Amino acid sequence: MSGANGSSGVRRSAAHGKVILFGEHAVVYGVPALAVGIDRGAWADATPCNESRSSMHVRDWNVTVSDDVADDGLPLARAFRDVLAVTRDAQRAEGRAPVGVVTVDAGADLPPGGGLGCSAALGVAVARALDPLATPEVIASRVMAWERVFHGNPSGIDATVSSLGGCVLYERSDAQAPTIQRVRLPRTLLLCVGHSGIASSTKTMVEAVARLRERRLETTQKTFDAIHTLVKNARLAIEAGDERAIGQLLDLNQMLLSGLFVSTPEIEQMCEAARSAGAHGAKLTGAGGGGCVVALVDEASKGEAVLSAWKRDGFDGFLTRVGGVVSKDTTPV
Ligand code: MEV
Repeated sequence: MSGANGSSGVRRSAAHGKVILFGEHAVVYGVPALAVGIDRGAWADATPCNESRSSMHVRDWNVTVSDDVADDGLPLARAFRDVLAVTRDAQRAEGRAPVGVVTVDAGADLPPGGGLGCSAALGVAVARALDPLATPEVIASRVMAWERVFHGNPSGIDATVSSLGGCVLYERSDAQAPTIQRVRLPRTLLLCVGHSGIASSTKTMVEAVARLRERRLETTQKTFDAIHTLVKNARLAIEAGDERAIGQLLDLNQMLLSGLFVSTPEIEQMCEAARSAGAHGAKLTGAGGGGCVVALVDEASKGEAVLSAWKRDGFDGFLTRVGGVVSKDTTPV
């Protein structure tokens, strides 16, 4: 999705939002997870300028930050400074001229705190605008510096899917680079994404699960093991295009996430409403504690029925199609 340099010197780029289909939270502890890039996302323009400092304006949030340490009280300013520094270091290490002073104009059409990867998408769009020559994998790794500012201990799945798009199986490793496999979708998946109306903090939710794990190591590990098995089965179901099986696994994953105390009454209500309206299955997506729900349907009329049921209960939503075939290659990239 990255754009080319225009004659004006503006570097324009774009990035996907994401929906985690299976494995959130467990992915922080090395369990693989499956996620898809969606059409909604973020964009950024980087323009060389003669100012003394680089700056970034995020339109939808009406906020401007600079890379001056004096701005560091703002997480967005720290994230911007970190991604600029990582980009320049990498460019120097490759014998390229580092990006100079720039003005970045950016925006996102994702709800912040909604579980759809808003911060990662913004980070990817900015990192890509700063260095359009970097590969999607390299961009994702640079955005880890940005994501750490917002999320504390990110697994990296959000930035990876935002940068690569498609359907990705992601496995974190503390010892080495993550394993990233593209998963082939033989047919388009039709997803309903609904917002519970409550913004949540990924950092807070990841910390809550970490505390639960400290208190109840054995039970939490059993839940992660069950999610691991579920993700393996989900991959097979996705590759086989077996929507019924995918739906059942979504429901099972939701049950396991409830056991980690990251679901809410609104999320449970939305999942139930989606199933009653004809979805194959539904679960929260992202960190939970609010944010979004994803439901799988097999046809647009059922998707509309799910959206109507949510609307009746006061929840906004949209339909998004992901897939067909992204790549036959399922080897690590
Ligand atoms: C957030 O989108 C997904 C979590 O698993 C956190 C992470 O992977 O960094 C909750």
